[in-house]
Amino acid sequence: MHSSSSVSKRLILVPILVVVATQLLFLRSVSSLNLTNAYLQHKCLVNQGKYKPGSDYEKALIDIIQGFSDKPKDSYGFRTGFGVTAYGKEPDIVAITFQCRIDSRGPKCASCIVTASSELLRKKCPKDKGALIWYDQCLVEFSSFDTTGQINYDDNFCLTSAKNLSNDVINFFDRVAFLSNLTKLAVTKIDKKIEGVKKPVLYSAGERRFGRNNLYGMVQCSADLSGRGCEECISYYLTHFQECWKPKQGVRVLSRSCSYRYELYPFISAKSPYYTKFLK
Ligand SMILES: *[C@@H]1O[C@H](CO)[C@@H](O)[C@H](O)[C@H]1NC(C)=O
Ligand SMILES: *[C@@H]1O[C@H](CO)[C@@H](O)[C@H](O)[C@H]1NC(C)=O
Ligand SMILES: *[C@@H]1O[C@H](CO)[C@@H](O)[C@H](O)[C@H]1NC(C)=O
Repeated sequence: MHSSSSVSKRLILVPILVVVATQLLFLRSVSSLNLTNAYLQHKCLVNQGKYKPGSDYEKALIDIIQGFSDKPKDSYGFRTGFGVTAYGKEPDIVAITFQCRIDSRGPKCASCIVTASSELLRKKCPKDKGALIWYDQCLVEFSSFDTTGQINYDDNFCLTSAKNLSNDVINFFDRVAFLSNLTKLAVTKIDKKIEGVKKPVLYSAGERRFGRNNLYGMVQCSADLSGRGCEECISYYLTHFQECWKPKQGVRVLSRSCSYRYELYPFISAKSPYYTKFLK
């Protein structure tokens, strides 16, 4: 027979699993651009249920977040922290995954995920086992199961500028081709500077001239996807949100697994890593 006092101490924290460890180039200041870290959206995944205040589940969640914030100099762009609470018959998995935008790793990434996690925990989705939050520079997922490596088709949104973009200015098919070309780069570029990890960076940004305008774009996939998974994810969301962004001057489509954006103005420094100026 277990007494409640003996089980309450049986919280086991599995060491954080570092899926992709990436040391990046020294980033130059991009203060001339709009590099704010705005909150964009959140979603409480209510069908994963709730945990009780003061429970081992809550403790594990807080411990994992603390683990992330203890190392503010981390330059990991992606990580999953797992906790397993041995309370009760079935062990509960407590997973937190984050992905930073590749041009904001290091301390900026750490501060983004701590802000995002606390916002979920305290304000947006209190006591929800499953939740997602998107900021300009990072996304954070709480989950009661392991979501790594899977393409998420359910949790996503599309943000557009108010202004319309006429097809005569930049044809819709050119915009799709531009984003597809960025995706091809993202899944083929292997960075030799990222030690010990031989996988594509799953990110690229760039600009291309169309008539009298420049189009600036970016694509990124969660580092837990394969190159093929990344292509599948982007191509699904290019199609899925077409009606949302087809007539617009600027678009951001974000999901748990991948995201893309284009604008008529620069939103990422041309000096940031994996940036390409396409020739006409
Ligand atoms: C900053 O963002 C605003 C819209 O939020 C845009 O109109 C402006 O051109 C941006 N400036 C730069 C330098 O990106
Ligand atoms: C943009 O175009 C749509 C039709 O595609 C139209 O309904 C809407 O009023 C236009 N918006 C602006 C701001 O011009
Ligand atoms: C995309 O890449 C193809 C092949 O390199 C090229 O022919 C095409 O012009 C590119 N399109 C855009 C919009 O960048």
